[in-house]
Amino acid sequence: MRIVVVGASGMMGSKIVRALGSSGHSVVEASSKTGVDAIKGVGLDTAFEGADAVIDVTNSGSFGEGDALSFFKQAGKNLLSAAKRAGVPHYLALSVVGAERLVENDYFRAKLVQENLIRASSVPYTIVRSTQFFEFFGGIVNSSPAVEGSIRVANVRLQPISADEAATIVAKHASGKPINSVQEIGGPEPLNLLEIARELLTATEDARPVATDPDVAYFGVNLAPESLVPAAKAISGKQSFHDWLSNTVSA
Ligand SMILES: NC(=O)c1ccc[n+]([C@@H]2O[C@H](COP(=O)([O-])OP(=O)(O)OC[C@H]3O[C@@H](n4cnc5c(N)ncnc54)[C@H](OP(=O)(O)O)[C@@H]3O)[C@@H](O)[C@H]2O)c1
Repeated sequence: MRIVVVGASGMMGSKIVRALGSSGHSVVEASSKTGVDAIKGVGLDTAFEGADAVIDVTNSGSFGEGDALSFFKQAGKNLLSAAKRAGVPHYLALSVVGAERLVENDYFRAKLVQENLIRASSVPYTIVRSTQFFEFFGGIVNSSPAVEGSIRVANVRLQPISADEAATIVAKHASGKPINSVQEIGGPEPLNLLEIARELLTATEDARPVATDPDVAYFGVNLAPESLVPAAKAISGKQSFHDWLSNTVSA
């Protein structure tokens, strides 16, 4: 199949390109660096010509107030219009599990807008909603507030997945039929953010204590503890956070 990856140079895009390539697909790598600009609408018609599927893994490069919203709105409109003109039979975008429960946060609200543009577009689609990637918890822990040297994290349960496994699942879905609905994906086990933070700090020989704090919000949003665990019918990756961390730290 001929599959276009928009955002091919990004963290997820590059992994998806590899997964598609190793399954024998012909991949068109599109991003602003290759002259395909989703915001300006440049290069899309040529890139989408004859495509069996388009995967949207673009991301806003800036996170100021309203930036993500204007990015996903404009990019979504241009990408979907071009997909419609080219008669693309399957449009897949990567979104986030629990996005509708995170709307107080600018970025997650923008992801919902992106999803809604897709639903309203009449282009056959699959929205893959993933849980957080293992790779991001270092940043989450390091940007958490601290009280007298003790890191404080939100009381929330998550079911993170390795970005590699998420990319493999996205690639597989893109080469299948559009489901015109949402497919959730997550890792093999739900974990408290506290457990994740503890394990991460231990593995990186960081002696700082860490505790749950009911006053600490998750990306500015106060959540019920189970809000970010995917539904029972989610597709699960196999690699645990523990195994991923052991491999990453020893590499
Ligand atoms: N990270 C998570 O935990 C998570 C979970 C679920 C879903 N997602 C979603 O996955 C998607 C990809 O995330 P990521 O972390 O892989 O992003 P990333 O590393 O920041 O990559 C973003 C990609 O978008 C491209 N891009 C930016 N502006 C563009 C434009 N105007 N036209 C064309 N391409 C443009 C970039 O290419 P250039 O550099 O060439 O501009 C780059 O290839 C996002 O939509 C994110 O919401 C992430």
